[in-house]
Formats: sequence, structure tokens, C-alpha cells
Amino acid sequence: MTRVLITGVAGFIGSNLADRLIRASGYKVIGIDNLAYGVREQIPAGVEFHDLDIRDPSIYPLFKAIDYVFHFAAKNCISDCQLDPVETADVNVRGTVNVLEASRRGNVKKVIYAESSALYEGSAKLPTPETDMKPESFYAISKFSSMYFAEGYARFFNLKATALRYFCVYGPRQDYRRSIPPVFSAFIIKLLRNEQPAIYGTGEKRRDFVHVDDINDFHMQCMRDDRTTGGVFNLGSGISYSINEIYSMIASLLGSKVTPIHKPDLPGEALANLADIARAKSLGWSPRIGLREGLQTSIDFIKSEMARGRI
Ligand SMILES: NC(=O)c1ccc[n+]([C@@H]2O[C@H](COP(=O)([O-])OP(=O)(O)OC[C@H]3O[C@@H](n4cnc5c(N)ncnc54)[C@H](O)[C@@H]3O)[C@@H](O)[C@H]2O)c1
Repeated sequence: MTRVLITGVAGFIGSNLADRLIRASGYKVIGIDNLAYGVREQIPAGVEFHDLDIRDPSIYPLFKAIDYVFHFAAKNCISDCQLDPVETADVNVRGTVNVLEASRRGNVKKVIYAESSALYEGSAKLPTPETDMKPESFYAISKFSSMYFAEGYARFFNLKATALRYFCVYGPRQDYRRSIPPVFSAFIIKLLRNEQPAIYGTGEKRRDFVHVDDINDFHMQCMRDDRTTGGVFNLGSGISYSINEIYSMIASLLGSKVTPIHKPDLPGEALANLADIARAKSLGWSPRIGLREGLQTSIDFIKSEMARGRI
């Protein structure tokens, strides 16, 4: 059995990876989450779950005899992070350092951890390669700082790590409970209720959306492919869509004629992001799920949450 520990296992990406590992068989999955944003019910059956905070040294014993750590736990809503830089640093920087320390003490083979495309917020280069880091928001700065700590653990303690810079990940279990949910969930929920979704600003901001199953392909590769060790990889689709285009696509998939309402633009958001995915592709990875097909999985998820009375 390969023993995998996932922080943030009750969240969107963590619960999807746990599901993938358990369905693949041959993996024992240990999950940590303090349920600050995650949902206990979406932790797949078969995960050994610990309701713990990543900042707490009591996590250390769980890292003994672990092969791979996937570190996803974070405070990651950009506008919330702007409101509370102290907690952002506490969870994202101190929490990450504590996970690195636990991994070092546990002698884990490798830590695969989440950075973000937010590191490119100030970059004008599209598509953006891994080298063009220009973090601006507190969230991005917290991810940037964690990156240096991971490099320090590699330098001084020989801790192996792989950093992943996700662009806009979507798919089943994407969090729809936030005050401003991600666009996909927000549009789908409102349109299914025959209500008008809100578009902030003109809707011409462009985003690179990548399906969670595609990033899970790379997660699996990180465990078996030594070429990923010590590397930093953009994970996006390499294609961008405007928010208006996304709206039209969702409305057409749902057969809805409801038009959106426009609200003032949200502060601190980049006009566009687009991943240069050449580096991950050079290792044989490639996103395989097109947006229309992927959107249907998000629609099916929201419909099933509605049918269960959760929305
Ligand atoms: N989803 C995306 O599009 C995206 C894009 C770029 C980067 N990321 C990064 O990927 C990672 C996973 O993102 P996600 O979308 O699954 O987020 P998510 O919010 O769904 O999951 C994060 C999980 O971490 C948990 N958590 C938060 N603080 C914790 C703490 N102190 N101790 C223990 N658990 C804690 C939350 O309860 C939640 O379940 C994050 O690090 C995020 O910054 C995500």
C-alpha cells in the first residue's frame, strides 16, 4: 500500500484526489482538515480522517510512515485574504511550514503542494510561464512566501517537493457556499432556479479553466515520476474564456434564456490569466477534458446537491 496524506481533504481538490486514490486501490489515504471551509460529508468513505488544524504540532505523528503528502489546506478566497492578512499568513505560511516540518520529521518521500496562478497577478505576459512571478494580493504573497520555505526545506533538510500552480480549477465538489461563489457554481445555481446570475464588471475578464480530473492526472504522475521532484508546474488548460463566454455556454447547456445582471467589478482581480503549460506537457501530461464536457460534470454535481436539499 502507498500511504498518502492529504491536507485540506474536505475541500474541493483534496476530496477529489482522495476519491481518485481510493478508486485506484493500492492507496491508504489519511486526511487532515479543520473544516474551516471544507465539508465533512464530501470526504470519501475509506479516508482515515483527522479533524485537525495544519498549524498544530499534534499533526506530526500522522506523518510517520507516509510516502507522499499532498498539501492543499489554505485560506484561499482572495477577497477574504485581503480583509485579513494576518490570518492569511498564519494559515498559508505558518501552516505550510508546519506541514513541511511534519513531513521532514516523518521522513516522507515527497511533498506535493499547492501554489497558485495568483503568483502571476502582475504579469503582462500571456500565456504566463512559471518564471514570470509577480504576486500582488496577500493571498499571492502568502503562496510566494510558502514557496521559499519549501525551497529552504529542500536546501537544508533535503525534503523533496513539487509545487503546482493551478489556474482556475473546476468540477464536482467545487465550493458553492462562499459569499461570492466561483463563477461556474454561481451561474449554474441561479440559472437552475430561473434567477438572474451576477456578472461583476463587463464580463470580459478571461480565465484559464482546468478540470479537477486533469489536475488529478498530474497529481498521480507526481508520485511515480521523479522528473517532477524539485519542479514547479503550471496546471491549466492553455485556453482562456471570457466570463461572458462561460455564461453563454452554461445557459445553452441548461437551455436557459435568463440574462445576467451586471454588478460593479471586484477589486484585486487580474484582467486575464492563461497558463503556459509547456513544462508539464514536456513530461507527457496534457489536459484531456474540454470545457463543454467539463461543465456538464459541474452541472450534474450542482443538480445532485440540489436534489439532496443541500442547496
Ligand atoms: N481551486 C482552484 O481553482 C485553485 C487555484 C489555485 C490554487 N489553489 C490552491 O489549491 C489548494 C486547494 O484548493 P481548493 O479549491 O480545494 O480549496 P478549498 O477551500 O475547497 O479546500 C481547502 C481546505 O483546507 C481546509 N483548511 C483551511 N484552513 C485549514 C487549517 N488551518 N487546517 C486544516 N485545514 C484547513 C478547508 O477547511 C478546506 O477544506 C489551496 O491551497 C488553494 O490555494 C486552488
